[in-house]
Amino acid sequence: MKRDEKVTAALQRRCDRDFQNTPQDAWDDIFPPAAGGEKDPGIPELLEAGCFDSIEEISELRRSACYDDLIHAYDVLRTERLSESCIHGRGHVERVMLLGAIIAMQQGFSAGERDLLLFACSYHDIGRINDARDEQHGKRSADALAALPLPGISSEELRCIQAAVAAHSTKDSMIDSFAVEYGVPVGYLDLCRLLCKGLKDADNLDRVRIHDLDIRHLRFDKSKALKKTAESIYRLSRQ
Ligand SMILES: [Fe+2]
Ligand SMILES: [Fe+2]
Repeated sequence: MKRDEKVTAALQRRCDRDFQNTPQDAWDDIFPPAAGGEKDPGIPELLEAGCFDSIEEISELRRSACYDDLIHAYDVLRTERLSESCIHGRGHVERVMLLGAIIAMQQGFSAGERDLLLFACSYHDIGRINDARDEQHGKRSADALAALPLPGISSEELRCIQAAVAAHSTKDSMIDSFAVEYGVPVGYLDLCRLLCKGLKDADNLDRVRIHDLDIRHLRFDKSKALKKTAESIYRLSRQ
């Protein structure tokens, strides 16, 4: 059976069952692991195939102006810059981007704010050197951002993203000192704090992958309602 036919058949079967209870071996049958142990497809392919259609927030996202920008962000994602870890690698980043897009939609981010959040989500973990608890990896990621292609991102916006990424792995109270360190202009402080909250919530929601999400730590109240969504996204995309 061709790949497209397999996806179609899987969707057909899913109409009559709770996909959340799909056992792993059934998913392996539908989406066999690719060579090298990495499971294919990723989130963009699953989005295009309609595998998330039963998730309310994603259905809403697909109807919004945000969706095309999310797909574009996946298209331009420099996957070679991402960690190869199964915990903090491409799968995690793709899920954080999707969750970031949902958060941006829920919070009414402007198109520009949303694109900056997607960029921050894309590269927030490129400074990781292992999967251990490491408060410094956000700072290393932030420092590495300037070497990436930055289409349409101004120097002030880059400074905001760097401060938000640097702060994502530390206490919330650090955002203002990172804003100073990266030279965020006073008039951009609110943007900087907004991006930090969005990134932290998107990143934290994907803690469902290690069964360690405490919704009390989420910054936006609406993010607290996304736990089941994050769990469904993870189940459908796990590597
Ligand atoms: Fe991180
Ligand atoms: Fe992360």
